[in-house]
Amino acid sequence: MELVRTINEVRKIVKEWKSKGYKVGYVPTMGYLHEGHKSLILKSVSENDKTIVSIFVNPIQFGPTEDLESYPRDIERDKKLVSDAGADLIFYPEVSEMYPSHFTTLVNTKEVSENLCGAKRPVHFGGVCTVLSKFFNIITPDRAYFGQKDAQQLAVVKRFVRDLNFDIEIIGCPIIREDDGLAKSSRNTYLNPEERKAALILSKSLAKGKDLILAGERDANKVIKCITDSLNTEKLAKVDYVSVVDNENIQYIDTIKGEVLVAIAVYIGKTRLIDNFIIKVED
Ligand code: PAJ
Repeated sequence: MELVRTINEVRKIVKEWKSKGYKVGYVPTMGYLHEGHKSLILKSVSENDKTIVSIFVNPIQFGPTEDLESYPRDIERDKKLVSDAGADLIFYPEVSEMYPSHFTTLVNTKEVSENLCGAKRPVHFGGVCTVLSKFFNIITPDRAYFGQKDAQQLAVVKRFVRDLNFDIEIIGCPIIREDDGLAKSSRNTYLNPEERKAALILSKSLAKGKDLILAGERDANKVIKCITDSLNTEKLAKVDYVSVVDNENIQYIDTIKGEVLVAIAVYIGKTRLIDNFIIKVED
């Protein structure tokens, strides 16, 4: 496995691969990799001839009061995980390589990005789609892999790729969890032992909401109340949002019908965690 830091090097390697007819899979990440990222890499390795993983903490997707500076980084550990998973190349650019001075062009997203995290993090999805436009143009992958953990991001990326005609298949992958149910996240490292225990309230509360739907409840507000009440039993938890939306356009719905995304964002102490489930209801 190779690691390169410049756009020219990546382009050269990909050109060579494509000249041999290889299919290229791509896994974008911000590093501090865990089993969730690894599941995406393994899927890409199994479905493509070559796999590229980018590691880049993208400054323009963080708001001014967010955790850009403290975002965890460990490139040596990441290299090992990527290599163990069987990927071929890590692209690990400097910020100045991706954003030279006078960088002025941004992707603007609407509708799918306006609710949930988009409502709370106004610059976030524009920043994600801008950096992905760049990576997609540099890497020109056949397929790109994203986790359902960031369900709204996945929906936004699918729409952005369709709208801007990127010839890339976007593949969604299931949420990987710790044994006790907490969704794996690079940000879990911010939690102290007491907060780590308290964080279990996210998956537990979602499970209660899911059970309610499985028992026949179709009123979205009742499901939201059930999940919110459960989250509020944990004194370290502060609810940011509990929402029920359709999983395609990410618009709020009153009645649970079709493919529905139930998504939550919760502060545990100072750490903002997200989790969700998707359910298909056909009646
Ligand atoms: P990052 O948070 O590093 O996540 C990279 C990818 O890993 C995303 O597609 C995310 O959904 C997936 N992932 C994270 N935790 C997961 C889990 N527990 N199970 C399954 N997949 C999981 O998302 C980003 O980086 C950035 O916004 C990026 C797309 C790289 C653009 O900068």
